[in-house]
Amino acid sequence: MLAYFSVFAIFHTSVLAARIWNNTGVGTIIFEEAWTPPVLASTVGKQTPPVGQTSEQLAENLLDVHNQRLAGMDANGVDFMVLSCTSPCIQGISDPVVAAATAKQANDELAATIANNTLRFGGFAALAMHDPVEAAKELKRTVEELGFLGALVNDYQQTNDSSMIKFYDTAEFDPFWQVVTDLDVPVYFHPRSNIPLLSNLEFGHSSFLRGSSQEFAATLSTHVMGLSTNGVFDRFPTLKIIVGHMGERIPSDFSRINDQLARQVVNGMPMQKKLSDYWRTNIFETTSGNFGTDLLKFHIGQIGLDRILYSVDYPFVTIEQGTEFINTLAETTGLGEEDIVALKRGAAIKLLKLDQ
Ligand SMILES: *[C@@H]1O[C@H](CO)[C@@H](O)[C@H](O)[C@H]1NC(C)=O
Ligand SMILES: *[C@@H]1O[C@H](CO)[C@@H](O)[C@H](O)[C@H]1NC(C)=O
Ligand SMILES: *[C@@H]1O[C@H](CO)[C@@H](O)[C@H](O)[C@H]1NC(C)=O
Repeated sequence: MLAYFSVFAIFHTSVLAARIWNNTGVGTIIFEEAWTPPVLASTVGKQTPPVGQTSEQLAENLLDVHNQRLAGMDANGVDFMVLSCTSPCIQGISDPVVAAATAKQANDELAATIANNTLRFGGFAALAMHDPVEAAKELKRTVEELGFLGALVNDYQQTNDSSMIKFYDTAEFDPFWQVVTDLDVPVYFHPRSNIPLLSNLEFGHSSFLRGSSQEFAATLSTHVMGLSTNGVFDRFPTLKIIVGHMGERIPSDFSRINDQLARQVVNGMPMQKKLSDYWRTNIFETTSGNFGTDLLKFHIGQIGLDRILYSVDYPFVTIEQGTEFINTLAETTGLGEEDIVALKRGAAIKLLKLDQ
C-alpha cells in the first residue's frame, strides 16, 4: 500500500509541475529582468535610464509587462522571460513586519499579473530577509502555490538599525538555505544601491561611480564571496546561486583570490575548497548588462560554458543590445551553433527546470 501511494505521489507531483511555455526550440530565455510591482510603485526612486531614454520611460517600462515588454520579446525572439521585483525591492525595507507583508503582496501581484500569459512569463520570488525562517516559508509558498521558479534577492537586507545590515552567509541563514536546497530552486543574487551610510563614505567623492559602473559589483561580489568563505556551499553542496553581469567580476580574478584566500586557512576560514571551485558546482553567471565578448571567452575558460547563461537586465538594458550580442556571437567568439544554443536557452531550461 505504501509503495502504491509513493509511486502515485511522484506521478502526481510531476504532472502538477509540468510547465507549458512558449518553447520555439530556437528563442532565448532571459531571467534578470526587472518589474515594479504596484505595491512598490510609489517608492521606486528616479533611476538612470539607458542612453537615449528618459527616466520616465524607464519607470514606465518597469511597470509594464504585457505591452512594450512583450512586443520587445516578440521582435527579438525571446521565448520566455522570468520577472523579478526591481532593486532594492524588499531588501530596502527596514521594518521586518512591513517587509514581510510587502514581499507577500509583491509576489501575489506578480503571480496575478502573469497569470494570463505563463506561456511567456515566469516569476522569481521577492523575499524579506530579516528572518531566515519566514523567508523560507514565503519562498516555499511562492514555488509550491504560485509556480515561481526560484527567488531573487537584491544583495543585503537593510534593517531598522542603521548600523546593521544582514548578509546571508552566516549560520543564522542555514534554515533558509536548507529549504532552498530542499525545494531545489536557484536564488539569484542581484545588486542594490548601498544604504546612505556606506554609499556616502565610499562614493561621496565621485558619485558617478554609484550604481552599476562600480558600486553594485563591489558590494555584491563581497556578499557572494562571503557565501563561499563562510562555508555555505560546503554545508549545502547542492545549493544553486546565480550571479548576473558576468559574475560581478569574480571569475575574472580567480588567480589572486585563490592565492590570497589560501593564507586565510590558518585563520580558521571554514571554506573547504578553492573559491573558484564553487563556480563549477554551485554558482552560475549570466551575461545580463555585460556583453563583453572577450570577457565571455575568458570566462568560458575559467568556469566552463555550462555555467554561463544569457540574460539581458531589461529595462535597464535594451533587449536589442542583447539580441545584437547573441546574433553576432559566432563571429565575435567563434562559438559553434550548439554552444550558442546552450548559452541562449539550453542551460536555462535545465537550471530553471522548464522541461519538467
Ligand atoms: C513565442 O516566442 C516567439 C519569440 O521567440 C514569438 O515570436 C511568438 O509569437 C511566441 N508565441 C506565442 C504563442 O506567444
Ligand atoms: C493579460 O492581461 C493584461 C491586462 O489586462 C492584458 O493587457 C493582456 O493583453 C492579457 N494577455 C493575454 C495573453 O491575454
Ligand atoms: C526592529 O526590528 C526588530 C526585529 O528585527 C524589532 O524587534 C524591533 O522592535 C524593531 N525596532 C524598531 C525601532 O522598529
